[in-house]
Amino acid sequence: MNYSVTVLPGDGVGPEVIAEATKVLKAVEGQFGHSFDLSYGSVGGNAIDSHGTALPDETAELCENTGAILFGAVGGPKWDDPSAAVRPEDGILAIRKMLGLFANLRPVRVYPELINSSPIKPHLLEGVDMVVVRELTGGLYFATPKRRWQTSRGRRGVDTLRYTEAEIARIVRAGFELAMGRRKLLTSVDKANVLESSRLWREIADEVSADYPDVELEHVLVDNAAMQLIRNPAHFDVIVAENTFGDILTDEASVLSGSMGMLPSASLAGLPGSSGRRRRRAVSLYEPIHGTAPDIAGQGVANPIGAILSMALMLRYSFGLEDEARAVEDAVSGVLAEGYRTPDIAGDSGDIVSTTELGGVIAGRI
Ligand code: IPM
Ligand code: MG
Repeated sequence: MNYSVTVLPGDGVGPEVIAEATKVLKAVEGQFGHSFDLSYGSVGGNAIDSHGTALPDETAELCENTGAILFGAVGGPKWDDPSAAVRPEDGILAIRKMLGLFANLRPVRVYPELINSSPIKPHLLEGVDMVVVRELTGGLYFATPKRRWQTSRGRRGVDTLRYTEAEIARIVRAGFELAMGRRKLLTSVDKANVLESSRLWREIADEVSADYPDVELEHVLVDNAAMQLIRNPAHFDVIVAENTFGDILTDEASVLSGSMGMLPSASLAGLPGSSGRRRRRAVSLYEPIHGTAPDIAGQGVANPIGAILSMALMLRYSFGLEDEARAVEDAVSGVLAEGYRTPDIAGDSGDIVSTTELGGVIAGRI
């Protein structure tokens, strides 16, 4: 089969890790007899430099007319001026909104070989296997008013946390659907003791739960969830959370796996096969959860595993290539078991290899 993929490497370590993901994709192509047609576009800081905007029209067009998007990372100190009119992050936020990618799946697993790379005590990490479902196109990130202005009594800034019933219902439903195929525990995270939007979130989660009698629904306040993620991470199965809460909790959760560089994500317009996927031909986006890591960019030491595992999620969710996705995931487990490590996951053991070497050995195992 022929598949088209739009590749947006972005800034910082983005191009380095995406080069390894496409290297492994080429290995899948060779081994399984598919053809992946890659189109590259600019996004983020480099697009601001070349086009004056974080999402040039031609990149937006590439995103709309493709089978799936493989995304690196955007941002960096060069574009960090708080008074700048355009920011690199606008690029990814605009794509999420444009394509209606409301469901961001962030699987968190702990590879036994990396237990010592995490600062968390080993016995707490046994059996950790969860998916965080982060709402991605609403909440504090997108609702308006959102602005800064000057008043006679000084400067003010406002962001708005607003959700509609429909927005909450579809993301909570995505959480239930995922939980159905797993351990059947859904943890809904909110701040219902303080926030009205959270009280609505909780009410709707309870209503939707009537359609999923086999799934246990629990409500956990976000501050407590942050603590439980460290105290008892193996408890969690599927977590569903507001955009900002999900952003924060997944950086925290990545510490369980040993490094930010390990975690992949899939941003979907609905779960495959579910009624949420109403667009005629939904395009999904796959990106590691890490940022551009400007401190290590260009040194060949970035961990490409989050990007490679994101590509595996693309094979699974966008193209239905389950065996191929498994082959990539098994190759990652295999090289970790053999002891290959980038510095972030080296701990006190393992062979330290470069970004391209790690990508190469993973590609070699497909
Ligand atoms: C993430 C990132 C982005 C976000 C930034 C780069 C806008 O932190 O994907 O988690 O906040 O969503
Ligand atoms: Mg983040």
